[in-house]
Amino acid sequence: MAESARTLDWNGANGDHWVAYEDKYNAAMFRYSERLFAGADVQPDDRVLDVGCGCGQTTRVAAALAAEGSALGVDLSAAMLAQARARAAEEGVGNVRFEQADAQVHDFAGGAYDVAISRHGVMFFADPVAAFANVRRALRPAGRLAFVCWRAPEESEYSAVPRAALGRYVTVPKSGGVNEPGPNSLADPDRVREVLGGAGFVDVRLEAENEPMDLGAGVGEALDFVLNRPHVREAMADLDGGTKAKATEALREALTPYATPEGVLLRAPAWLVTAHNAA
Ligand SMILES: C[S@@+](CC[C@H](N)C(=O)[O-])C[C@H]1O[C@@H](n2cnc3c(N)ncnc32)[C@H](O)[C@@H]1O
Repeated sequence: MAESARTLDWNGANGDHWVAYEDKYNAAMFRYSERLFAGADVQPDDRVLDVGCGCGQTTRVAAALAAEGSALGVDLSAAMLAQARARAAEEGVGNVRFEQADAQVHDFAGGAYDVAISRHGVMFFADPVAAFANVRRALRPAGRLAFVCWRAPEESEYSAVPRAALGRYVTVPKSGGVNEPGPNSLADPDRVREVLGGAGFVDVRLEAENEPMDLGAGVGEALDFVLNRPHVREAMADLDGGTKAKATEALREALTPYATPEGVLLRAPAWLVTAHNAA
């Protein structure tokens, strides 16, 4: 696959971080998986396409649900795909395949999939209408699309709490505004309808989800998770030891009220979006 500026981050430090924290992310997002698969309604003989599959947990779940069908996961990150293949082999999942591809422009076989899914993997497109149209062409007529994406970043404790705590000592860059390629690009429901409609999808439905992100079994784990996110690490890299210690302590204090017996749970509003291929 040709390397371009757009792919560098995921196919570099960000992807490596997601591999290192694979189990953490899967644990943090398991509630979103449940919502995603409720929306996707994968059938035993379905051919499933998982867009931005990362380390492939959702692809393997899709393959298990489509026991007589198959699942293909595509992603930009070679490191995450290597992890995805290793996990599938460990778990003996035979009907799953992973391919390094930019879903925006990849030449998918036309009409080859019954359902396309994504867990937080479709918000990073430079041209979302063209990208979703490309995904739609991979679906059979009336094929289904189901994905989860972030909603209402201003209400996201997952995003705001660490930034505010660390912000007393260092500026942690925002992860991208509404309507910009990045985690919040599909936060605006009108834009989601416009993008998917423009890409040739119909029956576009958005369901507001209010599942929390689970940052770890205790505050220590949550602290490690946040401090090792690439944009946080980068922001803190130049702090002197004393300031770093104060920032870390401020983050620990900020996370402590969110500790529950189920984990350190921070509100992270999302959409479950479903649609059909109009063709
Ligand atoms: C937030 S991560 C989610 C990963 C995975 N879906 C999960 O739930 O663990 C976003 C993923 O989308 C992938 N991605 C971003 N833009 C992409 C593109 N244009 N084509 C394919 N994958 C892409 C990234 O490499 C990354 O793995």
